[in-house]
Amino acid sequence: MVGDDPIDFFAKWFGEAQAADADEVNAMTLATVDGNNHPHARIVLLKGVDNQEFVFYTNYLSDKGQEMAANPNVSLLFFWKELERQVRIEGTVSKTASQISDEYFASRPDGSKLGAWSSPQSRIIPNRNILDENYLKYENRFSDQQIPRPEHWGGYSVKPQRMEFWQGRSNRMHDRVVFLLSDSGVWEKHRLAP
Ligand SMILES: Cc1cc2nc3c(=O)[nH]c(=O)nc-3n(C[C@H](O)[C@H](O)[C@H](O)COP(=O)(O)O)c2cc1C
Repeated sequence: MVGDDPIDFFAKWFGEAQAADADEVNAMTLATVDGNNHPHARIVLLKGVDNQEFVFYTNYLSDKGQEMAANPNVSLLFFWKELERQVRIEGTVSKTASQISDEYFASRPDGSKLGAWSSPQSRIIPNRNILDENYLKYENRFSDQQIPRPEHWGGYSVKPQRMEFWQGRSNRMHDRVVFLLSDSGVWEKHRLAP
């Protein structure tokens, strides 16, 4: 039963994907659009669903960060092949409150924290050594203190406006159920042809 709330239904499917030991359950493709209307897609990790929004973390100055700053329309895509399931989410993105980013950053291993300081994500670098040098530099700089969150790193949350659940079935007669958020904030549910 799909029910009437797509966030609840997502939680149900996510739990079932975890129970089925699906590979990289929380890996999702994030698609953004640049200033020339060119789409760009890459994988990021879902770190939670908070207040009905989908949260992930990245570098605010990365290509995706700049694209989302200029155009908040994004798409998220999950594929759980073990269950023949796909979930498509479209909506608008905004930065999470800095306190949320601080809390998540603090929970990460020191190596990941130093990585966030060391990598000018998406920028062209002359060689690999630059990264290792940066890593050592920040390791020394923060050797006697808690590693703080860099301002250029933090969370985003996606507020969905459209969510589609796809279940593979035999003879390509798959199930597709889409939820559309109406102007009055109510989810409308429809069945789509596969
Ligand atoms: C399994 C997997 C998980 C990833 N998770 C993240 C993530 O949570 N955040 C992130 O910034 N990049 C993550 N990446 C790297 C991104 O796919 C991408 O290379 C990077 O964010 C730079 O993207 P951009 O240049 O389009 O901004 C992940 C890659 C893989 C393959």
